[in-house]
Amino acid sequence: MKIGIIGAGMIGGTLTRRLSGLGHEVFVANSRGPESLRELAKETGAKAVTVKEAARAGEVVVVTIPEKRICELPKDLFAGVPGSTVLVDTGNYYPRHRDGRISEIEAGLPESRWVEKQLGRPVVKTFNNIYAKHLMEKGRPASASDRIALPVAGDDPEAKAVVMKLVDELGFDAIDAGGLDDSWRQQPGTPVYARDFDAEGVRRALAEAGSKRPAEFQATDKSPGTYAKPA
Ligand SMILES: NC(=O)c1ccc[n+]([C@@H]2O[C@H](COP(=O)([O-])OP(=O)(O)OC[C@H]3O[C@@H](n4cnc5c(N)ncnc54)[C@H](OP(=O)(O)O)[C@@H]3O)[C@@H](O)[C@H]2O)c1
Repeated sequence: MKIGIIGAGMIGGTLTRRLSGLGHEVFVANSRGPESLRELAKETGAKAVTVKEAARAGEVVVVTIPEKRICELPKDLFAGVPGSTVLVDTGNYYPRHRDGRISEIEAGLPESRWVEKQLGRPVVKTFNNIYAKHLMEKGRPASASDRIALPVAGDDPEAKAVVMKLVDELGFDAIDAGGLDDSWRQQPGTPVYARDFDAEGVRRALAEAGSKRPAEFQATDKSPGTYAKPA
């Protein structure tokens, strides 16, 4: 499958490595341009491209950049891209550590609904609740007893099925976490966040989630601070 990846950091770099390793044709972009991705391209066989090329390259396009930088993406990024292209959002809102205040999210809009609004296209939310290192190293065959499960939320059943298949190929059980309005159940600070549960554990954690955003993930007047010193 042809897969565009916008963002080549912890998650984008990991997905470039893993998906290329599975034989997918990956087109990867960052903010600094293809030249800065020469090493990653050489290592993985992925093609380093511009952001606009990545948006047009794939049957699936993964957007994996810090939440606050989503607004920097070109407004016409997906103009002319077929409606059948599946967009994946891996993002998390870290107001106190990195992103600063995003008022609509603070007011209760699920993070991926906000991303979808900025991109002007529906998204499927997944990979947001697993550490990049675990995504790199902890994929297991379907038969393994220690297989981690990942929630996948999205409104379009066909798009969600495409993403769930990719999650499975990467070595994780894909759990249907409902529509995007339910995706707050896998946001930072929820029971499923960064816990590496199995399928039953993910279902239980999603059901147990409370809708109030934890204070750690609410902006303050001083936000953003840093990871070392959140504000
Ligand atoms: N790290 C994790 O373990 C983890 C796990 C799950 C989810 N997430 C979430 O996934 C998202 C990505 O996280 P990350 O840790 O992979 O971030 P990261 O390591 O900081 O990498 C960010 C990437 O985004 C690119 N980027 C930033 N602004 C851009 C723009 N305007 N256009 C194109 N590319 C741009 C950067 O390119 P340049 O370097 O060229 O600027 C860089 O390649 C975040 O929302 C994060 O919260 C992270």
